[in-house]
Amino acid sequence: MKPIFVLNGPNLSRLGKREPGVYGTATLADIEALCRAEAQALGHAIDFRQSEREGELIEWLHAADDAACAVVLNPAAYGHTSIALLDAIQSIAVPVIECHLSNIAAREPFRHTTLTARACRGAIFGFGAASYTLAIRAAAALVGQ
Ligand code: DQA
Repeated sequence: MKPIFVLNGPNLSRLGKREPGVYGTATLADIEALCRAEAQALGHAIDFRQSEREGELIEWLHAADDAACAVVLNPAAYGHTSIALLDAIQSIAVPVIECHLSNIAAREPFRHTTLTARACRGAIFGFGAASYTLAIRAAAALVGQ
């Protein structure tokens, strides 16, 4: 079974220090550990990555088409801005689930739109670190485990 890719966009490397009132105090390493445990309990492995760079996220999405059974993607701010990321998701057949820690629908108006979610199988946001574990469960359900 191929792994679930868990891809993280810009500034998520700052979790723990970054606006804890919005994003909580868990670090990205904490979230990776939660994802790994959730996936393992469901019989899956994960490949967990973070990049500050749009192009690198796009390359990982392309690679996921052959190397992953599903993708959990927190595109961070690129979800609100990047047609290139939207096109990359549309260019692959492997299912992508968008997730965000915060409730983007309850924040500034510019965060209400996600350009990337329309190409995803679904989106989960607003549950903090649990958005990731719920997205892992959705990915496992989609691929039939
Ligand atoms: C985020 C929400 C985005 O609006 C923001 O730009 C982020 C984090 C989240 O996980 O809540 O960087 O994706």
